[in-house]
Amino acid sequence: MHRFIPLLLLALIASACVSTGDDATELPEVEATTTTSRAQRTTAADERADPTTTAAPDAEPGLAGLDVGDPGGDMSGLTAARLPGSIGDPTFPGIGNVGYDVTRYDVSLDFTGPEMQAQTVVTLTAQIDLEALNLDLVGMDVDEIRVDDEPALFNRDGRELIVRLPNPLTAGQSAEVLVAYHGTPEPIDTGEGLPFNLGFQARTWGNFVASEPIGAATWFPSNDHPQDKAIFAVTMTVPAGQSAIGPGQVVEESQGPDGSTTVRWEAREPMSTYLASIATGEFDVQTEVLDSGLVLRHAVHVDAIRATGDELQTTREMMEAFEEQFGPYPFATYGVLVVPEQLGFALENQTLSLFGTDIMSSPSAQPILAHELAHQWFGNNISPAAWDDIWLNEGFATWAEWWWTERIGGRDMTTVARTVPMDPIKDLTPDTLFDFNIYWRGGLTLEALRREIGDDVFGDILRQWTERYGGGVASTQNFLDLVTEIAGSDASNSVSQWIFSPTMPELPADR
Ligand code: TRP
Ligand code: ZN
Repeated sequence: MHRFIPLLLLALIASACVSTGDDATELPEVEATTTTSRAQRTTAADERADPTTTAAPDAEPGLAGLDVGDPGGDMSGLTAARLPGSIGDPTFPGIGNVGYDVTRYDVSLDFTGPEMQAQTVVTLTAQIDLEALNLDLVGMDVDEIRVDDEPALFNRDGRELIVRLPNPLTAGQSAEVLVAYHGTPEPIDTGEGLPFNLGFQARTWGNFVASEPIGAATWFPSNDHPQDKAIFAVTMTVPAGQSAIGPGQVVEESQGPDGSTTVRWEAREPMSTYLASIATGEFDVQTEVLDSGLVLRHAVHVDAIRATGDELQTTREMMEAFEEQFGPYPFATYGVLVVPEQLGFALENQTLSLFGTDIMSSPSAQPILAHELAHQWFGNNISPAAWDDIWLNEGFATWAEWWWTERIGGRDMTTVARTVPMDPIKDLTPDTLFDFNIYWRGGLTLEALRREIGDDVFGDILRQWTERYGGGVASTQNFLDLVTEIAGSDASNSVSQWIFSPTMPELPADR
């Protein structure tokens, strides 16, 4: 049995009783089991720092322009072993690459033909001297690679796209790696682990993306680890009658002679690859500019309009409440993408949270809208340094979801959650990364901290967290250090008990 409890179910528990509020003893239907850890931690600092980014020794370089065919190997990255040049993520040892820093992805996708025709320009800076570098890419046929406009030899091995640089790069030097590719992008089959396939999702009504944690490589070649954040531009060409939605804002739009539309979206704030998302199809886009200058734009598929009703009208109020609590919203735009699908989950894609009609039309719409909005601060602006820091995303978003739920007269979720025995947050595997303990024990961790140190100091910590790590990544240790600095070592000790201790601590009384 897998232990994943869909977010929908968790939030239904939260919202089932807007305005009851007195049945604190009623337990939710969550089963607590023991974690069997299959993770092998490979995070030793020396391993992480390994600076070699080289082609796999047995790699046969393909010639630029030749289709090298099925790359074979473990495409998914779910089980891939650590390569010499991988980041060495404890949960996904095979993903991401060290040796360079991506500053920008310029992704162009053409959906007017039977297959997707694509080109991605990756602008990167070498951090060490490089003769070759690896990108992550799952599926797709690679047609050509050029580095600073010179043809490059390349090969593929599982999800590694190995690029032999025509001219070696020295540390500090930048380059533009252009990858031309085509095919029908397919999501990664996660088997038993997560109840959804990751990455690019093609449907008869259009396309959308749900990548977290390792699915971005299904639609663009990337350094697919949250650590390497970059600025994104996505240009899409869609057939007549369709629209193309992307992160950030539209900066250019043109019509082709065949009635097709080409739209260019740009997100100017750094983003982790897993949060990049697009959608194509018949979308109704509503835009509103707030007094603060923040652009709200929601994109609702025409077949999802009825299910969406007026749920999105609370965004403005929610935004104002969160800005007061967490500090200014970190990006220039925000909005929700609603697709005509029963997803069973929502996902906090940067500036464009993804929802299906199931959640949108359920009583949990508001709590989950709050959850995904909170992720823009916690998870998106501050991203996890490694995947086992995931509670920094889900715990914070859950805390914010509970906070909002109470504000709108819903149930006090901490009184429900505190009575549920939950595994500590450690030894995470791909299968347990989004288990309910990450959400609920993570949420309780913050609530316990708030009760222990009081609202003011707690607020200071939240704002300092953003101040220091906004635009980048942070680890659990970074959080513990910040708590120690601002609230003292007793507070940070209890935070670490809440995260790591086999038995769950008692929640302090509210004061
Ligand atoms: N981060 C999502 C949330 O807000 C859950 C999630 C993780 C997810 N991976 C996903 C949703 C992939 C959709 C697809 O809780
Ligand atoms: Zn979440």
